[in-house]
Amino acid sequence: MTHHALNFDELTPREAYKVMIGTIVPRPIAWVTTVSPDGVVNAAPYSFFNCLSADPPILALGVENKPDRSFKDTAYNIRMTECFTVNIVDRANVETMSVTAAGFEPEVDELEMAGLTAAPGEKVICPRIAEAPVAFECKRYLGIEVSSAREIILGRIVMAHVREDVIDLGTYYSDHAKLDAIGRMGGNGYAGTLDYFDLPTPSAAEVLAQRKARA
Ligand SMILES: Cc1cc2nc3c(=O)[nH]c(=O)nc-3n(C[C@H](O)[C@H](O)[C@H](O)COP(=O)(O)O)c2cc1C
Repeated sequence: MTHHALNFDELTPREAYKVMIGTIVPRPIAWVTTVSPDGVVNAAPYSFFNCLSADPPILALGVENKPDRSFKDTAYNIRMTECFTVNIVDRANVETMSVTAAGFEPEVDELEMAGLTAAPGEKVICPRIAEAPVAFECKRYLGIEVSSAREIILGRIVMAHVREDVIDLGTYYSDHAKLDAIGRMGGNGYAGTLDYFDLPTPSAAEVLAQRKARA
C-alpha cells in the first residue's frame, strides 16, 4: 500500500483541518465553562485539547475565531476574566454537551439551556458542570495567537474536582470504566474509551533479547 503525500503548504486551511481532524483521533473533549464580564455563564466543547505539562500542570485549547475573526464567547471570556474550567465529557453527557455547541448569543446561559447544573468554582469564578465526572479549574497561563483565525490558550490547573467513584485517593489512579469518557472523531463522530488494554513499555534490554530470540 502506498501513502498519499499531502503538502501542507499547498492545502487550504479547510483541507488541512479535514485531514487533521479525520486522522488525529480520538481527541479528548474539553467542555469549557467560562463567565462573561457581565456574569453570564458560557459552556462549549473544544476537541483541539490536551494536557501538555504536569509540572506545572498545563492544559491547551485550540480555539478558532468566528469567520469575521472575532472571538468565540469562550476565547473572549477567558481573555476578560483570565480563567476557565475544563469539564470532561462522559457518555451520559454527550447529548447535553452537543447542545452547548450550538451558536447561542453571548447573553444566553448555555448550561441553563442544556438543563445542566452550575456548581460554583472554588479558585476561579467559572462554575463547573455538576453532571461532569471531572472538572479542572484553570487560570489563563498564556495565549498564543497562531494566526488571526486561531488562538491556542494555555491554562494552569489550580483545582480538580473528580467524582468519588472515578479516582482512588490512595493511589491517584482513575477507573476508566467509571469515567466512561468520550472522544471526538472526524465530522460528527464520537468514540468511547472502554475498548482499552494494557501494554507495558518494554526495557531496551527486553527488546534486544526479543530481537535476538527471533534472529
Ligand atoms: C465535540 C465538539 C468539539 C469542538 N471542538 C472545537 C475546537 O476544538 N475548536 C473550536 O474553535 N471549536 C470547536 N467546536 C465548535 C464550538 O464548540 C462552537 O463553535 C461553539 O458554538 C463555541 O461556543 P462559544 O462561542 O460559546 O465559545 C467543537 C464542537 C463540538 C461539538
